[in-house]
Amino acid sequence: MPRFQPFNPADDSAYHAWRGWKLRAGPCLPEEVLVPVRDLSRLTDTEYQAVLGRVRRFNLAIYQVTGTRAAGKADIRALGRRFGLESLDMNLRADEDSITTIAVKPVADGTRYIPYTDRPLNWHTDGYYNRAEEQVRGIIMHCVAAAASGGDNLLLDPEIAYIRLRDENPDYIRALMRPDVMTIPANVEQGSELRAAQSGPVFSLENGTDALHMRYTARTRSIEWKDDATTRNAIEFLRELLDGDNPWLIRHRLQAGQGIICNNVLHRREAFADDRDHRRVLYRARYHDRIHATVAGPDCYGERKCSG
Ligand SMILES: [Fe+2]
Repeated sequence: MPRFQPFNPADDSAYHAWRGWKLRAGPCLPEEVLVPVRDLSRLTDTEYQAVLGRVRRFNLAIYQVTGTRAAGKADIRALGRRFGLESLDMNLRADEDSITTIAVKPVADGTRYIPYTDRPLNWHTDGYYNRAEEQVRGIIMHCVAAAASGGDNLLLDPEIAYIRLRDENPDYIRALMRPDVMTIPANVEQGSELRAAQSGPVFSLENGTDALHMRYTARTRSIEWKDDATTRNAIEFLRELLDGDNPWLIRHRLQAGQGIICNNVLHRREAFADDRDHRRVLYRARYHDRIHATVAGPDCYGERKCSG
């Protein structure tokens, strides 16, 4: 039986079959992706299926811990394992256990990275500067405490971005799948190279599963795009899609005890303000694994045939 490859630009019939299924249910409201769970480290089967169902449909779920015990990093680890998220991405600034605590840090800590400030973070997927073999495919972002104001996340399923681009012009997809379409220059601090320059595609198919993977940043400084008209038009189209009024965008401000578990969806963060009693703290775990059992086959998880 031929492989079902809806994201292969050469396979129109698989694409249209899958696309029909994907769009049939329409965009979701933030409350539709919200799943209450009692204990992150021990989801019940019902809770597990509820989270998995959201991720299959939207590539993300937002959970809300309803139990009284505050979740710690060990709980995040356990939650990840339940969904096949094992291989944590090592991060320059991760704590020892590779789960990063994200909060505003004083400048004296020597960081100039925007995640550790209260400034907005533009659209991206995580780890776009990673090597090809260390791409970030799964993320858990858990909110320990919310800011006094702001800090909303905007989220977009990369499969929707893919559909919009492919429907507009299939050559956009071909251009964005080239292995040298986007280059991140080397990270050099005080004369030493912390990370080599990294070229890679925006869209790729995961080895073995053919799941769609997206590598992207909207930043314009220190990014080198392949210099041709199709790439420029594709990037402009994507930029307009992300900044425009799009019913598939999900806006959500994480509250304490809530978190996002996702297949590295497109996201941005708005600016926020802490005060003495409300200091935003997040735990972030990045994995090289994709959430298991979230690749639609020809039967679309048995829901119905992918058709029309
Ligand atoms: Fe991020």
